[in-house]
Amino acid sequence: MYLQRRNRILRKNAAIRSLVAETVLTPQDFIAPLFIDEGRDIAYEIPSMPGYYRYSLDKTVQEVKALWGLGIRSVLLFIKCEDRLKDNTGQESWNPDGLMQRSIKAIKDAVPEMVVMTDVALDPYSEYGHDGIVKNGEIVNDETAEALLKMSLSHARAGADWVAPSDMMDGRIGIIREGLEKNGYTRTGIMAYSAKYASCFYGPFRDALDSAPGFGDKKTYQMDFSNRREAVKEALSDVEEGADILMVKPAMAYLDIIREIKNAVTLPVSAYHVSGEYAMIKAAAAKGWLDENKAILESLTAIKRAGADLIATYFARQAVALING
Ligand code: PBG
Repeated sequence: MYLQRRNRILRKNAAIRSLVAETVLTPQDFIAPLFIDEGRDIAYEIPSMPGYYRYSLDKTVQEVKALWGLGIRSVLLFIKCEDRLKDNTGQESWNPDGLMQRSIKAIKDAVPEMVVMTDVALDPYSEYGHDGIVKNGEIVNDETAEALLKMSLSHARAGADWVAPSDMMDGRIGIIREGLEKNGYTRTGIMAYSAKYASCFYGPFRDALDSAPGFGDKKTYQMDFSNRREAVKEALSDVEEGADILMVKPAMAYLDIIREIKNAVTLPVSAYHVSGEYAMIKAAAAKGWLDENKAILESLTAIKRAGADLIATYFARQAVALING
């Protein structure tokens, strides 16, 4: 044949493929989520997340130092709240001496340049395991937003660089932005979970923090996975209300949403490769059904290719090791 175009020329060997690769992962793409518990010298492996741990704060600080050394520049903090401190208002979440606040300080002291982001939602603190305050079996919006503001201010006061509201209440980004401004926290970023879907893929996370909803589900606030345009509507609201980064969650089954939001806004877009997505790869690899390392790199590259500027993933550390080869 005499062909005008031979597309395989660009795929001839590894060298040329690396020269023309459109998407390349770097350590700075990742946000490492961390689960923190009370105590000392504790590393609890989460049963549904093999190889991933909930650490006491002393161990968490060691982990953050190691992550920094690997080139990872951001961590996203989650704490496990003791049962005795849980209630319906989530007031432990703005306790200045709470585990989250102590963790922020300890991490910023140890690795000042690490970008510390905090999860903002009531579920770990809620006796009902819901992201908001419950009244007559409903998750009330406006009172919850006020609680989230107190929580955000408390994180900012403790030294958090970014707050990441993951609750999906209406108007919370605007209230938090205004509150940060009024209290002089003009350099605190807001990473809004803009398109957070009511997803079964959060199951292992709820095991990690013992935060599964005690009744019902989260479908009156988290998004319906049937919807795409609604994600753009949520994203545009968060832009208007003052968000700095928009997040899509989960990631792998929502690549269309990542791309859609990327095309609709000028802010950086992040994606959360969630606990269930981690568990799926780990489980299949343990059975010998998937090559774990290849599955990790393919998944994360696809998320970036879809439009994610940043990826929160439990594979952050493993992925960096693979990238650095
Ligand atoms: C809390 C929160 C959840 C996750 C992140 N923040 C759980 C939920 O909404 O039920 C899930 C993360 C994961 O599955 O990795 N609002």
